[in-house]
Amino acid sequence: MSYTTILTETRGRVGLVTLNRPQAMNAFNQTMLTELFDALETFDHDENIGAMVVTGNEKAFAAGADIKEMAEASTVEMIRQGRVEKWDRIRGLKKPVLAAVSGWALGGGCELAISCDMIVASETAKFGQPEITIGVIPGAGGTQRLARLLGKYLAMEMVINNRTLSAAEALQFGLANRVVPKEKYLDEAIALAQEIAERAPMAVRMAKDAVNAAFETTLTEGLKAEKRNFYPLFATEDQKEGMKAFIEKRKANWKGK
Ligand code: HXC
Repeated sequence: MSYTTILTETRGRVGLVTLNRPQAMNAFNQTMLTELFDALETFDHDENIGAMVVTGNEKAFAAGADIKEMAEASTVEMIRQGRVEKWDRIRGLKKPVLAAVSGWALGGGCELAISCDMIVASETAKFGQPEITIGVIPGAGGTQRLARLLGKYLAMEMVINNRTLSAAEALQFGLANRVVPKEKYLDEAIALAQEIAERAPMAVRMAKDAVNAAFETTLTEGLKAEKRNFYPLFATEDQKEGMKAFIEKRKANWKGK
């Protein structure tokens, strides 16, 4: 499929998606949203890909949903178009997705970043939920994910009073894995994704699923989910190979099965 609002490429076993509406600070119109998730799902189904990176440009990861596209919409139109439900597609991805964030990650842009499995930020990154300033609230998971990630008070401040977080604050509060100079954020994210992409694919998949279970449920149910993901790995060739390689003091040769 050819895309008009994003760019896609592969770097080794990493699938890279670059949001490409620089004239609109990478605001998400419906086309870009559809193309983004199509591209990610395509990489997710490609056995030559082990992890994905989503990025924007130096100035903006993404400035949220396209306000111009939504400004005149009625409630009924928004509901009929399933405007916010569309964002749930990211939850269906089985392989890790890393956000490489530079500049603005606002509204849906921040929500996209925090829907990813890891965040590598440039020192210029700024995270925020400014919806309150345009008379609405986050609709792509911001209220829920920020509350879980940051706790009630900071999430509340971001959502009801447009508090933005600098890259350093994001790192301090656990909203980023690492912060690097702006010249390096993308290379760093791709290198991290490549490292993950070289690991045993089924174990990575099960690990992602198990960690995500922690955000969904009680400890008891989460521990059950972990066990459900742990035992089946002993049916994979990669488990046998991984443990054998350890004992033989050599590098494992993963098959992905
Ligand atoms: C549409 C946008 C946009 C957006 C920027 N632009 N953000 N267009 N929707 N979300 C456009 C501007 O209109 C402008 O186009 C161009 O991008 C450059 O933006 P400027 O404002 O001139 O740049 P700057 O002064 O550097 O400010 C950057 C900015 C600011 C801080 C990112 O643009 C901004 O505050 N944007 C809105 C952020 C926001 O409120 N996001 C939440 C959206 S609601 P023109 O053609 O005018 O020059 C949301 C809800 C999600 O995300 C829920 C799921 C559906």
